[in-house]
Amino acid sequence: AVRLRVREALGARQPVDEVKVQGWVRSVRSQKEVLFLHINDGSSLESLQVVADPSLENRDLTFGSAVEVQGKLVKSPHKKQNMELQAETIRVVGPCDTWSFPLKVKERHPLEYVRQFPHLRCRNNTLASLLRIRSEATAAIHSFFQVNGYVHIHTPIITSNDCEGAGELFHIETSNEAKESAEKTHFFNVPAFLTVSGQLHLEVMAGAFTRVFTFGPTFRAENSQSRRHLAEFYMVEAELSFTESLQDVMQVMEDLFKTATSTVLSKCPHDVELFHKYVAPAQKTQHLRLFFFFPSCRISYSEAVEILKQASQTFTFKPEWGCDLQTEHEKYLVKHCGDRPVFVINYPYDLKPFYMRDNEDGPQHTVAAVDLLVPGIGELCGGSLREERLPFLESRLQRLGLADAYQWYLDLRRFGSVPHGGFGMGFERYLQYILGVDNIKDVIPFPRFSHSCLL
Ligand code: 4AD
Ligand code: MG
Repeated sequence: AVRLRVREALGARQPVDEVKVQGWVRSVRSQKEVLFLHINDGSSLESLQVVADPSLENRDLTFGSAVEVQGKLVKSPHKKQNMELQAETIRVVGPCDTWSFPLKVKERHPLEYVRQFPHLRCRNNTLASLLRIRSEATAAIHSFFQVNGYVHIHTPIITSNDCEGAGELFHIETSNEAKESAEKTHFFNVPAFLTVSGQLHLEVMAGAFTRVFTFGPTFRAENSQSRRHLAEFYMVEAELSFTESLQDVMQVMEDLFKTATSTVLSKCPHDVELFHKYVAPAQKTQHLRLFFFFPSCRISYSEAVEILKQASQTFTFKPEWGCDLQTEHEKYLVKHCGDRPVFVINYPYDLKPFYMRDNEDGPQHTVAAVDLLVPGIGELCGGSLREERLPFLESRLQRLGLADAYQWYLDLRRFGSVPHGGFGMGFERYLQYILGVDNIKDVIPFPRFSHSCLL
C-alpha cells in the first residue's frame, strides 16, 4: 500500500486502490450501516474522512487514539470534501483514554485552557495551525532575505557583548562556578551572557557582505508576565551597508513584513482563517488589510510628543520630550494615525545606545532611530542608522567609558567604514500581530509559566 499523508490524500486527483494513512482520530461516528472516522496527522487543518463497515469498530477506536488505516482512496460523494478513504483494515496503534485526555472531542477549547497542557496542546486545531504558520513564516522570512541577496549569519548565542543595554542579561556560569567562590577561574575568561541581540556581530559581517541577516533565539531577563514579553524569543535582524538614509531601513522592514505575510496567507489560508474567524474578532484584523493597501504612517519622535501633549486623554506617564514612549503612548499614536502601522523616527540622542547615528540637529538633538509600532502590539521592529564616523563614535564611547571594550567595534570604522543601518523584528510579536493573538505565550511551541519551566 502507498503511504499517504492526510494532506496528500485530500488533494489527490485520482482514486488510489491501496493506500495507508496514519494519524490520530479526531472523531468517531458510528451509525447502523456505516462507521465514520476523521483522521488528522498534522499535515493540514482538515482531517481525512474514513468510511468503514461497522464491524471494524472496536473499543480502543476512540477520539485521540493513534491509528493506521488501509483501504481505497475514492472520490467523496460529499460536497465538502474531495476524497475519502474506504477502510479495509483499521489498526489502533496507540489507544487513548478519552476520559482523562484533557482535550475533548468537538470542543473549541480556549487558548488559556490548552496553555495548561503544553505537551498536548499541539493536538488541538488552533495550536496545530499556529505551529504550521510559524513554520511557514520562518521559511518565508529566510526566503525573503535569500532572494534579496542577504547572507545568513549564525550569530553567537553565548557572548560577552551585551549590545549596550538592549535588555536585561542572563549571566552564564557552569554549575560548579555557581557553587564555588568567586576567586575560582571562570569557564570563560570574561563574563558570558545569553545574547540579547546579534546586531554587533551582524555589523562585523555587513563590512564584507553588504547585506546580512540572522534569525535566532534571543534572551532577555525581563518580566515574562506581560502579554508581549518573553525571556526567550526569536528575533529577525538585518544589517545593510551603503545606506543613504533611514528610509532604506524602513523600506526593508516594510518589504519583509509584506512579503512574509503574503506568503503565509497564500501557503496556509485555512490555518490563518481559523485565527481570523475564531481567535481574533473581525475588527482586529482590519488593520492587516490596511497595511496592504495604504502606505504606513511616518512621524518624527518630536511630532509624536506634540500629538501626545495635545491628546484629550490623560496618560499615567506625562508625555515629555526626552522621555521614552510608553505602551499607552504607542497605543494612542497608532489610534491617532488611523489604527495602522506607524514608523516613529529620530529619537532623542540621550535616550538611545551609542551606536545610533547622530543627526547633528540642535537644539533638540536626535539620532537616526526608527521604531515600527503596530495596532494591538506596540513596538514590532526597532532599528537605526549606525554611526559610521570614527570621531563621533570614539568620543561618544569615551564619554561612556566604553572605548577600551569596543576597540574592535571602532576598527570597523577605521577600515573601510560605510554608512549602514539595520533593525530587529520580534518574531513572536509578528505572529501575534498577523493572527490577532492577545497573549505572546500562545504563539510559542512551549509556553513557560512564570518562572517555572514545564518542558
Ligand atoms: O528594540 P530591540 O531591543 O532592538 C535591538 O535589540 C536591536 N539591537 C535590533 C537591531 O537593530 N538589530 O528589539 C527588537 C525587537 C523589538 O522591537 C520587539 O519586537 C522584540 O525584538 N522584542 C521582544 N519580543 C518578545 N519578548 C521580549 N522580551 C522582547 N524584547 C524585544
Ligand atoms: Mg526597541
